Amino acid sequence: MAATGNNGIAPVVMAFDEVCFGEGGEQALHNISFDVRRGETLIIHGAAASGKTLILKLALGLLKPTRGRIFLFDRDVTRLAEREWFDMRSRVGVLFQEGGLFDSLSIEENVAYPLLNQRLLHFPEEQVHDRVEQSLEFVELGHTLEKFPSELSGGMRRRVGIARAIVTQPELLLYDSPTAGLDPITANTIMALIVKGRDVRGATTVMVTHRHQDGEILARYRFDERTSTLVPALEDSTHTRYLVLREGSVAFLGSSAEFDASKDPYVTMFASR
Ligand SMILES: Nc1ncnc2c1ncn2[C@@H]1O[C@H](COP(=O)(O)OP(=O)(O)OP(=O)(O)O)[C@@H](O)[C@H]1O
Ligand SMILES: [Mg+2]
Repeated sequence: MAATGNNGIAPVVMAFDEVCFGEGGEQALHNISFDVRRGETLIIHGAAASGKTLILKLALGLLKPTRGRIFLFDRDVTRLAEREWFDMRSRVGVLFQEGGLFDSLSIEENVAYPLLNQRLLHFPEEQVHDRVEQSLEFVELGHTLEKFPSELSGGMRRRVGIARAIVTQPELLLYDSPTAGLDPITANTIMALIVKGRDVRGATTVMVTHRHQDGEILARYRFDERTSTLVPALEDSTHTRYLVLREGSVAFLGSSAEFDASKDPYVTMFASR
């Protein structure tokens, strides 16, 4: 169940209100509006260069909108000062499209980075090692603490990226194309970890992908802690919604049932039919 506030409606974790990015012929996003509530999963589909990564960068304050308003955790962050963004970002776990591991840092140092560099967390230094180890064990890479990114495979590096995204136990997790460039078996392993990350802590999850299989795993499965496996979820129990972007505009926004029923040929390209 999505957690609910006093009025029975779950609070907004992220919202865009008529957001535009870029000017004139260079405008890359046009009037984007959507919201994600606590406990929901949002899957963002769209062709290459449709604006998926831009949405995540705007949500993290790494880029500023030209028009419109952006809300994070019910706060208007459209004109937030950079020093305040530090604290905002400490509440969000992110897996960037490029993975974003630091090549010169060990795996342990990479995963520890958010714990040590987000001052709002005040994470006790003597507990960092244990938390990092726990987080790496979550992605079944507990034995790689001393290694460097160049010594791991692409799929393993992606798993380290997930360990780093979840290490602070954030309320909101953002994943950009987590399975891009991976073989189908490794891609499924990554998706299983993302479902586990969502369901073990109940984190609100936003995932960008152009693989319909990725969306379906998040929408239709949940992590069963008893058996440590993914099991089919009851209909709508994952609270999944879809946003489909086309050339910087919203082509579709709705529930997974509405997504499955859509007849728009562009939208159905991202469904399994
Ligand atoms: N910082 C930026 N300033 C201006 N334009 C940008 C910026 N970043 C990206 N763009 C443009 O915005 C459009 C959308 O880019 P974006 O990175 O969001 O695509 P995407 O949907 O994530 O694509 P892909 O699936 O290939 O990752 C592209 O035309 C890109 O050139
Ligand atoms: Mg992208």
